[in-house]
Amino acid sequence: MDKVTLPPHVLIFPLPLQGPVNSMFKLAELLCLSGFHITFLVTDHIHTRLLKYSNIQSRCDIYPRFRLETISDGLPEDHPRSGSGLIELFESLKTNKILFKDLLTSGKLNSDSRRPVTCIIANGTLGYTCDVANELGIPILFVRTISACCLWVFFRLPKLIESGELPFSVNDLDTPIKSVLGMERFLRRRDLPTFCRSGNLSDPSLKLYLHESKEIPRAPGLIINSFDDLEGPILSQIRTFCPNLYTVGPLHSHLKYKLSGELSSSFTSSSSLWNEDSSCITWLDSQPPNSVLYISFGSHAVMTKEQYTELWYGLVNSGSHFLWAIRPDSLTSDSIEIPPELSKDIDERGYIVEWAPQEEVLAHNAVGGFLTHSGWNSTLESVIEGVPMICWPVFLDQHVNSRFVGEVWKLGLDMKDTCDRIIIEKTVRELMDSRKHEFRTSADQMAKLAKQCLMPGGSSYCNLERLIKDIQAM
Ligand code: UDX
Repeated sequence: MDKVTLPPHVLIFPLPLQGPVNSMFKLAELLCLSGFHITFLVTDHIHTRLLKYSNIQSRCDIYPRFRLETISDGLPEDHPRSGSGLIELFESLKTNKILFKDLLTSGKLNSDSRRPVTCIIANGTLGYTCDVANELGIPILFVRTISACCLWVFFRLPKLIESGELPFSVNDLDTPIKSVLGMERFLRRRDLPTFCRSGNLSDPSLKLYLHESKEIPRAPGLIINSFDDLEGPILSQIRTFCPNLYTVGPLHSHLKYKLSGELSSSFTSSSSLWNEDSSCITWLDSQPPNSVLYISFGSHAVMTKEQYTELWYGLVNSGSHFLWAIRPDSLTSDSIEIPPELSKDIDERGYIVEWAPQEEVLAHNAVGGFLTHSGWNSTLESVIEGVPMICWPVFLDQHVNSRFVGEVWKLGLDMKDTCDRIIIEKTVRELMDSRKHEFRTSADQMAKLAKQCLMPGGSSYCNLERLIKDIQAM
């Protein structure tokens, strides 16, 4: 085919973390379904994990237009790339601007049947991608895979500093925050991203996110994995900085819907970086409906020995059945083991895996609640399945997300800044028992809205159509 009739060629460059890779992989597949050529750019480290644990290779075979490409993250292979090492990962990623530009000008991404890249979709924290795109005259769109509510807090960080609300002393965390427009009624210091608690303005994370309000609007469009019924008021605030907003989420369900015509969990396009243990689905099949509390803290959160022990006692004393995904590297010290006096309870009511097929678990009718760290993908996956949440946030956007789940959307209970088996037991009983119907009703309503926005005429459906048309016009 001559160049003119060849389809658009989009290069998608997610942050090299499980959450962003998951949601951007779904967007890549959605664009593939529209006939685009896709180059999905991941770091060598992520590529190795994807090949080992996900079905990404077979997905490449299904989509002949889908290509995986790799780039170095500039770190030694044995670097942890987790916990406190995340900042080093972000800093190192910024150094591969030259590598990124070389890749785009190398000619290796295009051929007679594949146009040179006609559009770049990159994570907005990698601002240099915009510099390279402008130098090469390639259109670029930014994407952010965290919640709009947290992104808006990042946009307002300069105002928080200007008004003197940042930095603050950590001892009065219930003091209200007034400089984040649209959140004045309910935002407190304790709900801000944890790096705001460092007490100084030279905190590396604060410096990393301080300029988002200047960086993100540099691209002519911003893609967000959320939906208007969930974050409408905050999305309107963001539009004052980024008028061309494409809210196309929940992306994981958007893809399922497009592929199977209705929302079904039978379809699994995994981009998992760990080995999923599906034996828990068989265990769930033997549990009564809505009786199981699923527990998982995402791909980066780590747990101290004290948190781990309090959670065990709280869970066992709550009497609830539970399925706990305990990621192998999620415990700060390897001297942690299950309190021996509890092990017999586990056989009867609890099931443990290292990494669960989470979308399938949350879609299972035995699951009645989700104790989560409030990572954004987990939050969206719980919202669309109508599963009420107990939020125990750990870092970054999770503290803002958990405040919205508990205080604004009323989809569960916010348990931030606690670590006590009595509180955990009480909170589990409240969500799974005494206030079960209240939360299920509210969660079912939001789940309905999440599904509607993916149907023809729905907001996310229309925004994806518009995104596709805009890319075709580039
Ligand atoms: C990171 C940040 O921690 C999070 O705050 C931010 O919103 C996104 O980037 P992560 O911690 O991995 O994400 O959490 P989350 O966004 O919830 O993503 C975790 C993904 O892993 C989800 O898609 C979830 O379905 C999947 N998962 C998690 C599994 O498949 N199995 C598990 O056992 C646990």
